[in-house]
Amino acid sequence: MSEPKKLYIKTYGCQMNVYDTARMKDVLAPLGYRAADTPADADLVVLNTCHIREKAAEKVYSDLGRLRAHSRAKAEAGGRMVVAVAGCVAQAEGEALKRRAPLVDIVLGPQTYHRLPEMVARSLRQSGVVLDTEFPAEAKFDFLPPPGADGPSAFLAIQEGCDRFCTYCVVPYTRGAEYARPAAQVIAEAKGLVAEGARELMLLGQNVNAWTGEAPGGGTWSFGRLLRELAEIEGVSRLRYTTSHPTSVTPELIAAHRDIPALVPFLSLPLQSGADRVLKAMNRGHTVAEYLATFDALRAARPELRLSSDFIVGFPGETEAEFQATLDAVGKVGFVQSFAFKFSARPGTPAALLPNRVAPEIVDDRLARLQAALADSQSRFNHACVGTVAPVLFDRVGRYEGQLIGRTPTMQAVHAEISAAAMGTVRAVRIVGVGPNSLSGVAETSDQERDAAE
Ligand code: SAH
Ligand code: SF4
Ligand code: F3S
Repeated sequence: MSEPKKLYIKTYGCQMNVYDTARMKDVLAPLGYRAADTPADADLVVLNTCHIREKAAEKVYSDLGRLRAHSRAKAEAGGRMVVAVAGCVAQAEGEALKRRAPLVDIVLGPQTYHRLPEMVARSLRQSGVVLDTEFPAEAKFDFLPPPGADGPSAFLAIQEGCDRFCTYCVVPYTRGAEYARPAAQVIAEAKGLVAEGARELMLLGQNVNAWTGEAPGGGTWSFGRLLRELAEIEGVSRLRYTTSHPTSVTPELIAAHRDIPALVPFLSLPLQSGADRVLKAMNRGHTVAEYLATFDALRAARPELRLSSDFIVGFPGETEAEFQATLDAVGKVGFVQSFAFKFSARPGTPAALLPNRVAPEIVDDRLARLQAALADSQSRFNHACVGTVAPVLFDRVGRYEGQLIGRTPTMQAVHAEISAAAMGTVRAVRIVGVGPNSLSGVAETSDQERDAAE
């Protein structure tokens, strides 16, 4: 193999992009590319972009502007920096990107990562831009090398694309139609990750609970069935999945939450708005009452289950009363961790053409009020946890000597003084305090007690 080459990848957007970035590193490693923390002196720079809101998309262009100096410095030193734009902006803007940013050598959509080595080689051989943003018939997953686990918690993409076409959203256009990876492939990847030390699997998909896939012996499995099979894998302590759509929470999935202890009692289930008219205009396919009924059914199956959500404020035509309905829904559900966004009109989406845009100062005001309500809801939950004992999966070293940081099933960060042997394991921790960004806890059992119990 030749000299190691320096690769810098910047990741924007969702967890699927984080997963894809790791896969790009995997496919480039055999060519001698090693990941670096800065773009300075890089041989290959990949921007793995997000198109979900205008701000996210525009960031790519400002980052490309900043890269120019690095590229020039590299050229002056006799080298060459290859710049690739990957991900959802690449998919959405392909041709336009080339015109706006001459620095870019390669434009590749989310479905063609497995061809990256070939594209890099081609771009080094020839000048001019290499563009690859098709949705190829071959599934990229068949061509990617097996991923390595990067700690106790690992991402596993099981589904990609979205057929739901919410009127504001670009994902169906950037990620294409829903594709479910066959169960055998998912299980093999899960086993590989566990063999490398993963204890928690975070199953990823843009519409993850819509997964229905090819069963190993033929026929199909539901998502609930897949969860059951993954939970059976020796060494899997925790299963999570994100992001779910409320209309795909089936009775079978609810039963999975009742029956599978490894399945965390926590679900990211975006509500977006608390007003039925807005939900309809968004094409979400359910009412607020239906959402609340789904929450009730999940809680009946697993009483400790909590939800997080995404919200959009200032959707065209949103009235004060409709916004108030969103605040009411927050009060009813008591979301434990959520994100609120200002509506962003994305080119090509139906909502971008809707009349009655909400004035920016009103949108700002609603965003602030919603964020305050969500912070309050989260804080209430955190305080209610004080005194309880939670299973914490420790996955990071803390700021102080002897301290580790982990997560509860409900995604709260917990720091505790505990022996280094707890790293990568789930320990019972009594929550004793609430800080601004994390909880503090005290381990319930020492290593000796634990060894004796096992
Ligand atoms: N697949 C996920 C969401 C993916 S995008 C789902 O269906 O829930 C993540 C979040 O970004 C969405 O939940 C939504 O709240 C927000 N979002 C998407 N498009 C947006 C837009 N045009 N303007 C503002 N927020 C948007
Ligand atoms: Fe976008 Fe809606 Fe699909 Fe989520 S379900 S990715 S918001 S179209
Ligand atoms: Fe962004 Fe694409 Fe994910 S638009 S949120 S990176 S699917």
